[in-house]
Amino acid sequence: MRSIIDILDLTTDEIESLIKEALSIIDDPKAYAHLCDGKVLATLFYEPSTRTRLSFESAMYGLGGQVISMASADSSSAAKGESVADTAKVVSCYADIIAMRHFKEGATQVAANNAAVPVINAGDGGHCHPTQALADLFTIYREKGSFNDLTIGLCGDLKFGRTVHSFIRALSRYSGVKFMLISPEELKLPSYVKKDVLQHNGIPYVQTTDLESVLPELDILYMTRVQKERFFNEEDYLRLKDNYILTPEKLKLAKPDMSIMHPLPRVNEISVAVDEDPRACYFKQVLNGKYIRMALILMLLKEAKAL
Ligand code: NCD
Repeated sequence: MRSIIDILDLTTDEIESLIKEALSIIDDPKAYAHLCDGKVLATLFYEPSTRTRLSFESAMYGLGGQVISMASADSSSAAKGESVADTAKVVSCYADIIAMRHFKEGATQVAANNAAVPVINAGDGGHCHPTQALADLFTIYREKGSFNDLTIGLCGDLKFGRTVHSFIRALSRYSGVKFMLISPEELKLPSYVKKDVLQHNGIPYVQTTDLESVLPELDILYMTRVQKERFFNEEDYLRLKDNYILTPEKLKLAKPDMSIMHPLPRVNEISVAVDEDPRACYFKQVLNGKYIRMALILMLLKEAKAL
């Protein structure tokens, strides 16, 4: 049974097909409105979420399917000590496909190993978030028309930000990509991503603590929130949380067509005044995320012969 745990579980050809499908859904949503009639998506979220869970649910409703949901670990059998493996087996009896978020790295893989239906990783701890990467790729495709020859700045919490890790993995397969990794010393990209992805693929990157110095070179700036929930102490979080705040003033340094991205939720790192800037793409990313998830659900259900 095919599950999607890492963005690299999809080939670049498959990503291209998903993008084509998502564009065709946008063109003619009615043609897709009943493709999943009678099918059930289960969303199992052991960690808070607004966008990702609602995006999966909205995607399934858009395809005519139905949704059953576990919105928090406290209100489920996890609170009684049920294992992820058992939960995956049980939920497979109720649903045709599962979207799961968990606070532990690797937990969604355990679910996939035990489920009888496809599992989509909706975020596992500080590790991966493949469907956010799909939303990000789709947004870049719509804004820039291609994934090649881009200078991309990633700014904020590159250590704990799972969207950053999946984003870098996703872009590592295209040519001419260069990364500017902008973070405080303590929140630098983990060395396993640097070694296994960037160095392994010979992708050029620069590490800096200074956003303004690299801003003029960027085609894309991907801002991220400092991941409060993954800190061991409040003091460190408070010290680091407002390190980077993107303002209209700073954006004067950027290219006129630089795309500003953010997986959301935003805390302080992009001033709301930036929302008016035509380069701001973060709310478009949200909508793109819904369409690309529709395409992914369709692909996995077809492969599982559930459609
Ligand atoms: C992200 C996540 O959950 O990792 N949110 C999302 O899914 N769009 C980013 C974050 O929480 O900062």
